[in-house]
Amino acid sequence: MPVNARRFIRKMRGGAQAHLLEADDGKFYVVKFQNNPQHRRILVNEMIAAEILTHLQIASPEYQIVRLSREFLAANPDVYLQTGTRRVPVEPGWQFGSRHPGNPDTLAIYDFIPDALLGQVANADQFRAVLVFDRWTGNADGRQSVFFRAQLKDWLAQPGVPPRKQGFVTLMIDHGFVFNGPHWNFPESALTGLYPRRMVYQTVRSLGDFEPWLSRVLNFPAEVIDKALRQMPPEWIAGDEAELEKMLEGLLRRTRRMPELLHGCREAPGNPFPRWVEG
Ligand SMILES: Nc1ncnc2c1ncn2[C@@H]1O[C@H](COP(=O)(O)OP(=O)(O)OP(=O)(O)O)[C@@H](O)[C@H]1O
Ligand SMILES: [Mg+2]
Repeated sequence: MPVNARRFIRKMRGGAQAHLLEADDGKFYVVKFQNNPQHRRILVNEMIAAEILTHLQIASPEYQIVRLSREFLAANPDVYLQTGTRRVPVEPGWQFGSRHPGNPDTLAIYDFIPDALLGQVANADQFRAVLVFDRWTGNADGRQSVFFRAQLKDWLAQPGVPPRKQGFVTLMIDHGFVFNGPHWNFPESALTGLYPRRMVYQTVRSLGDFEPWLSRVLNFPAEVIDKALRQMPPEWIAGDEAELEKMLEGLLRRTRRMPELLHGCREAPGNPFPRWVEG
């Protein structure tokens, strides 16, 4: 169910000029607008990526379609886009909201944490998981995630986490440039999807280390994409329908190339998988 924006919190950094907004479900969303400076297709990519990540069971924020009314925009003049010195109004209508994992007043979110803490992130295996996703979807942006401290049982997929244990968790964010952003194609590159902090791959020895996510991609059901398309506001894809369908067919065909696409990382400078066992 879509939600309505009711309060502007702050502007976020980044090329899409996302805004942190509170919605009428009482939750907070990092919202990218249809007329963001990158491209309208960024919203389509974010929404399809969010549905795929949920299916693959990779830690990523929930999302919502967030409606901005004319009244909200009139009452919140700080919500606008900037191109050079020009102030561009945000168009009312349906936007993409990536759910903030808590209350921004009380929960600190970090884009980066020191290596010593990175080693202690409770779900650090998600960097291996999301590499499968990024190779498959041709994510043209560097891998990005957010980190925060939380009760682990609320955020880890596995059972048996002690009830009060606290620790750092990560969520994978920023999927505007999957499918090569507005280009909707899949360029070949050894670097695609690699996280700049290579220690997250230090245990990788073989394709088996990318399970169970690799098998989930190899057996990916097209219905997951259909579900995303059914829920997508039609104005996000008006005039783009045929090109979108062509790109998504390419995505589904590409699943069978997964082993090769993961192997391809090993051509990247600096050898991301130093412990790889040939074979
Ligand atoms: N779900 C979320 N919860 C909390 N913070 C978030 C969430 N999504 C994004 N952010 C924050 O908002 C910032 C901007 O988001 P994002 O990276 O998706 O936008 P962008 O404009 O594509 O950025 P860039 O151009 O730098 O890659 C992130 O750096 C992160 O700090
Ligand atoms: Mg970003």
